[in-house]
Amino acid sequence: MPTARFLGHACIAITDGTHHLIIDPFLTGNSIAAAKQEDIKCDYILLTHGHGDHFGDTVAIAKRNNATVIANYELAMLCARQGLKIHPMNIGGAHNFKFGRVKFTIAHHGGGYGDEASVYTGPPAGFLITMSGKTLYHSGDTALFYDMKLIGEMNQIDLAFLPIGDNFTMGIDDAVKAVEFLKPKKVVPIHYNTFPVINQDPQEFAKKVKSAQVVILKPGESVEF
Ligand code: NI
Ligand code: MN
Repeated sequence: MPTARFLGHACIAITDGTHHLIIDPFLTGNSIAAAKQEDIKCDYILLTHGHGDHFGDTVAIAKRNNATVIANYELAMLCARQGLKIHPMNIGGAHNFKFGRVKFTIAHHGGGYGDEASVYTGPPAGFLITMSGKTLYHSGDTALFYDMKLIGEMNQIDLAFLPIGDNFTMGIDDAVKAVEFLKPKKVVPIHYNTFPVINQDPQEFAKKVKSAQVVILKPGESVEF
């Protein structure tokens, strides 16, 4: 069974025991990070969008591990300009990698890098990642959107990571509706309690979700899927 480890904020490390992936490796400067960037070992880095709380330590981690960055075209080009190995993709596209399949899904959010997010980094995304026959969905930073119903109809999602922090993304009530649409077996709330404006109580989310198993992970904890 593949395992997903929550490292704080929106950062998830995924492994099937052979391959090692990390999503949105924001560790340095992350008040709730459960790992240091120097300790991350990975083959691939997947980026939902270019904001600093997602791009994070991508350059250092990619260089040290000789890892490939999977990101939308514009953000991948930004990584290539920094000397990183890239695999550009875009919304709606899927690709079979050695570790499994990645499909890019829409997210309603922004995309920018650097001071004041001044460098355009293309459309934000979420991912469907299929490994060892199991499917994980990481929505990225997003509002609730009705096409989540379509994603839920077309995919059997074993494990979903959804933001509940509000202000920049879905809050609790919208994330509860997202779970109804996506129909995952397990759901983990993310993107909350990293800084005051996104403080939320994950127990409130757990109480309101009726159709999936809610797994509240402290930074550093893992779940199998
Ligand atoms: Ni963002
Ligand atoms: Mn964010």
